[in-house]
Amino acid sequence: MQQPPDGKNVLRIFPGPPQPVPLHGLNLREPLRPTALARGDQSRAAKPFVYTNFIASLDGRVSLHDPQTSKRIVPRAIANARDWRLFQELAACADSLIMSARYVRDLPHGVSGTSFPVSVKPEHDDLLQWRLAHGLAPQPAIVIVTASLELPSLVPLVESGRSVYVATGNAADPRKLARIEADGVRVLRVGGGARAEGGRLIEALAEMQHRTIAMLGGGEVLHALIVDDVLDRLYLTLACRMLGGLPSVFDTLLTGPVLEPAARFRLAALHYDAADPASDADTTDAASDAGATDEAADAAASDTNATDAASDAGATDDAASDVEQLFAVLDRRRD
Ligand SMILES: NC(=O)c1ccc[n+]([C@@H]2O[C@H](COP(=O)([O-])OP(=O)(O)OC[C@H]3O[C@@H](n4cnc5c(N)ncnc54)[C@H](OP(=O)(O)O)[C@@H]3O)[C@@H](O)[C@H]2O)c1
Repeated sequence: MQQPPDGKNVLRIFPGPPQPVPLHGLNLREPLRPTALARGDQSRAAKPFVYTNFIASLDGRVSLHDPQTSKRIVPRAIANARDWRLFQELAACADSLIMSARYVRDLPHGVSGTSFPVSVKPEHDDLLQWRLAHGLAPQPAIVIVTASLELPSLVPLVESGRSVYVATGNAADPRKLARIEADGVRVLRVGGGARAEGGRLIEALAEMQHRTIAMLGGGEVLHALIVDDVLDRLYLTLACRMLGGLPSVFDTLLTGPVLEPAARFRLAALHYDAADPASDADTTDAASDAGATDEAADAAASDTNATDAASDAGATDDAASDVEQLFAVLDRRRD
């Protein structure tokens, strides 16, 4: 007899038969690396596994203009602690995290040694343990994609012991590059013009033995990966809310020229999250913990992630703790 999901569980809908499974560990239970091998695709198995994740509203918004900060951020009406936990798990699996320069520029408290996941907050301690148990460095490398090279100082991040890379094109301004390199950042020139190319970026990371690569930027970086056919998987959280807004105030998941042909995906898994806050101590704890006080907001902001979901879900009072949502895992179809 099928049981309804509760605060600790989500309902696995696909593959069937439907059954409740724990939310915690959902993205850790199936290791990412052997996926290509399991499909029998030897050529893909030799390459890194590249994935991304987004949370979107039913009307496709991944960000909205925020009057408080005058920036585009993950909509407060959908950012939530349960999705944030799953995001943390995905970050925890990665050798490297690709993020956009725009995100780094917009960090509310600037770059610090604890910027970017994996979270060092006590409730995510198991993720650090998971990384160590799987032979990974305590924190993934950070790869910042930029054409402008307009970046704040990355010294605090470098000094925290993390590997930090900036990915750009060959046309990059040498003086700006020299300043970035002087901070201890390694520059990857992976594009013919000013921009980084997705395929060359992944190739460069593969040469450095990065096997599991998470893309945490937005629609522009995603476009670079899709056109070069190097994205393997999309983790998509569909929050059951509509947000509206004129085109000038929101972003969708992918931007850039129309894809010809369209990029095809196949559903690999689907989970339903009722997220009843009354039965979900973790969610309410995390939401209030993250948002109730300025101090907590600072703490949350200090482990923000490239999707803004962290900082937005974490650093605001109105994180959507009772949002109903679907967690879809979609694999790129190449047949
Ligand atoms: N809901 C979600 O889960 C989610 C997840 C991620 C992002 N978002 C939202 O989506 C919106 C866009 O995200 P974003 O601005 O972080 O990412 P983005 O649109 O992918 O990238 C923006 C910046 O990244 C650099 N960039 C991107 N592709 C590049 C390339 N091929 N070569 C060189 N530089 C490149 C550029 O930096 P320079 O200007 O320095 O050249 C550009 O300004 C934001 O509003 C964000 O909040 C939502």
